[in-house]
Amino acid sequence: MLVELLYCSVSVPSQLTHVDLDHILASARRRNVAENITGLLLYYRGEFVQILEGEEESVFNIYEKFIGSDPRHTALNKVHQNTISHRSFSEWSMGFVGAAEIESPMPSSVIGVLMNMLTDSAKSKPLSLSLNAFVSIYDQMRKSPYR
Ligand SMILES: Cc1cc2nc3c(=O)[nH]c(=O)nc-3n(C[C@H](O)[C@H](O)[C@H](O)COP(=O)(O)O)c2cc1C
Repeated sequence: MLVELLYCSVSVPSQLTHVDLDHILASARRRNVAENITGLLLYYRGEFVQILEGEEESVFNIYEKFIGSDPRHTALNKVHQNTISHRSFSEWSMGFVGAAEIESPMPSSVIGVLMNMLTDSAKSKPLSLSLNAFVSIYDQMRKSPYR
């Protein structure tokens, strides 16, 4: 059974560097490929929002065992989990969106709004609506000649 899980957390220390984030992503992606997990990680002003998708057992295992015990963040708050019929991030072993200084074409103010939107909307309904809107906006921005 496919599920999606969304949580937020606070980074330790409150400002992770480019290099710290690269380390997190490298090991996350390695395991996610092996476990067939896809998703998205957002980092903005010391806060993470992450969406994980995959088989229920793999998602919960990774969330509990590896993500939950990682000292590089704290105050984990699982906002949402839901069964899904298809993945929103099927091509991303863990897409990353960070502030402008970490080479994201997305303005940092947009990330803040997006993080609020995802965590708010996830409280009441499936993620797919806001996620689909986000994915198409982000896709457009990546292709934009103005980035
Ligand atoms: C914000 C954040 C997101 C993470 N996301 C994932 C993830 O998607 N998949 C995963 O397996 N581990 C994830 N982790 C855990 C670590 O990247 C890593 O797997 C863990 O520290 C063990 O790494 P190692 O076995 O390579 O030493 C995450 C950790 C943090 C702090």
